[in-house]
This record gives sequence, C-alpha cells and structure tokens, in this order.
Amino acid sequence: MGIDPQEIERAAAVLRAGGVVAFPTETVYGLGADASNADAIAKIYALKGRPSDHPVIVHVASSAQLVDWARAISDRAKRLAERFWPGPLTLILKRAPQVLDAVTGGQDTVALRVPAHPVARALLEAFGGGVAAPSANRFGRVSATRAAHVREEFGATVDLVLDGGECEVGIESTIVDVSGTHVALLRPGGVSRAAIEDALGEPLVAPSSAAPRAPGTLKAHYAPSTPLMLVDADVAPELVRSLVRQDKRVAVLSFSTLRPLLPGLVWVAAPADAAGYAHALYANLRALDASRADVIVVEAPPARPEWTAVIDRLTRAAAGAAPPSAP
Ligand code: TXA
Ligand code: MG
Repeated sequence: MGIDPQEIERAAAVLRAGGVVAFPTETVYGLGADASNADAIAKIYALKGRPSDHPVIVHVASSAQLVDWARAISDRAKRLAERFWPGPLTLILKRAPQVLDAVTGGQDTVALRVPAHPVARALLEAFGGGVAAPSANRFGRVSATRAAHVREEFGATVDLVLDGGECEVGIESTIVDVSGTHVALLRPGGVSRAAIEDALGEPLVAPSSAAPRAPGTLKAHYAPSTPLMLVDADVAPELVRSLVRQDKRVAVLSFSTLRPLLPGLVWVAAPADAAGYAHALYANLRALDASRADVIVVEAPPARPEWTAVIDRLTRAAAGAAPPSAP
C-alpha cells in the first residue's frame, strides 16, 4: 500500500495541534497523540475509556531518540534495540526526567518502541517527536488490525485514521523490561522469547511482583463481548455438539480437522501456523463476535513455544469476555 505524503503531513499537523491520529503498525493499529502534550494524551484515555494511571508506549522514529525519553540505558537495552528495531519489541527503561506522568502512569519507567510499518515510520519522521499510542481499541476489548476495525471502535471521534492495510504481525509487541538487574518478559508478542534470549545470551526472567504494572497483562483483556470458551482440541467437538443441543448458537474458531459439520454454526478456519494465526486473530475474533452467536468456542492451539503469544491473548480473551449465561 502506497504512502500519501500529503496525508502523512496532515496527520503530523493533527498531532502537533494536540489531536488524535490512529495509525497502522506492523503489530496492531495505535491511537496516537503527542507524547509531550498531557492534554492530547488525556484525549486518548478518554476515547479508550482507559484508567488514567495506566502507562502508554512512546513510539519514535529511530533508536537515536532513546536518549530523549530514557536514562541509564544499559548495553543489554542497546543490543535489543539494535537487533529488533524497527520491529515488534517494546523496551521498558528508566524514564528521562521530563517524561510526563501521563505517559508513565506516574512510574519511574517508560515504554519505548520503534515500529517497522512504513506508514508509522513516515508519520514518526514527519512529526519528529514521540507519539504515545496504546492499541486502537476500547479498554479491554479486541485490538484493531485494519483501519475498518478502528472506525468500528471509535467512529468519527478520532481526528484522522491512516489506512495502512492489514497489520502483518497481528498481535501486539513483545514487552521486555530492561530497567532492572535482570531482563524480564512482561508480555509475549511479535518477537519470540527465544530470539530475545539468543540476542542477549541470557534467559529472560519472569516479572517480579515489584515489576512495573502492565495492564496488557491483566487477566481479562483482548475480549469480544460474546462469551468465549478456550478448550482443548479433544473436547471441542463434544462441547460444540452439547451447546448446539441446548439450542445455543455457537461460533467456532478451530483448525480444519475438527469441523463438526453441524447446521447453523458459524465456523472460522484457523490458520495452522502460529504466524498466520496471529495475523488473522483479531479479525477472526471480531467476525465471530459479530456473528451474534451465544457463545464462541476456540480450539486451543498446541502448547508449543511459537504459540505462546497467541495462547496468552486467547486466555485473556476467554477471561475477559462476558460470562456464558447460566444454562
Ligand atoms: O504492539 C504494540 O505494542 C501496540 C502498538 C500500537 O505499538 N501497542 C500496544 O499498546 O499494545 P497498549 O497500550 O495496548 O499496551 C501497552 C502495554 C500496556 O500493557 C502497558 O501497561 C504497558 O505496555 N506499559 C506501558 N508503559 C509501561 C511501563 N512504563 N512499564 C510497564 N509496562 C508498561
Ligand atoms: Mg492494548
């Protein structure tokens, strides 16, 4: 998809004027505002319905801008930036003194990312500064991987939506905390744990209880409004049959081998590879949600490392969706 320089310039002007611009990244669409303008950031929080003490990621055009936002940048942080930026990795670092509390949620750290999507890069270069951007969805809901999803979420309340087509990765960035003694994995995502450990030459640790708060790691998140059940492949067919017997309308996301061939079911074929599954995940959840089923049944992917981020999102979607109504 081509880049329209005039559209990018208009978007940068909206940011400079304290407005909100939705833009594509390679992970998901972001809802962006000038990261040095507290009033502009407040607009994002209001649009999302997100609690104002939640921190937000600052997107910059290049790792040369790290020093504008962070201090005490370790060699390990530099190595990860060099290896994975631009790309689907977010680094948590000690914040520079001038970084707004509206960005950090009042914490001593800041989240930074250099996205790879050409439209995001063009926007960040044209704007020049940092763009604070959470995922472009209402709080706790399914993220947006197409411009049309953003419009579904926010309608005309967003000043400008840049259309960059479908997000390639399809799930959010991996978040790694490099602000402490050990490097901790806060959220699995577009870059695998193995790739990060390989670049570092050391294992990632689990976040300690004193670690920075990351609401994307809330138990319930990324959720459709229809109840969602995540079930093992071997029990899925029987569960679907029994729900149908109870006159429930069932929408199913499953690998092709499982198609129960029951009438009246909405059935979405899940890609068999983890990258393809992640790419399509949020669009699939949105389609299942829109099918007006009583319940969404998702066949759990295999518990292998390359599926970690997808299983993380599905588990939170199941926890966050409305509870199934009593039988
Ligand atoms: O792929 C992504 O990361 C997308 C695109 C738009 O860049 N953004 C995204 O933003 O997923 P959001 O706000 O939906 O999730 C960012 C996560 C949240 O869980 C937030 O709590 C965490 O990053 N976070 C932000 N700043 C943090 C900080 N200083 N310490 C710990 N976690 C932080
Ligand atoms: Mg989000």
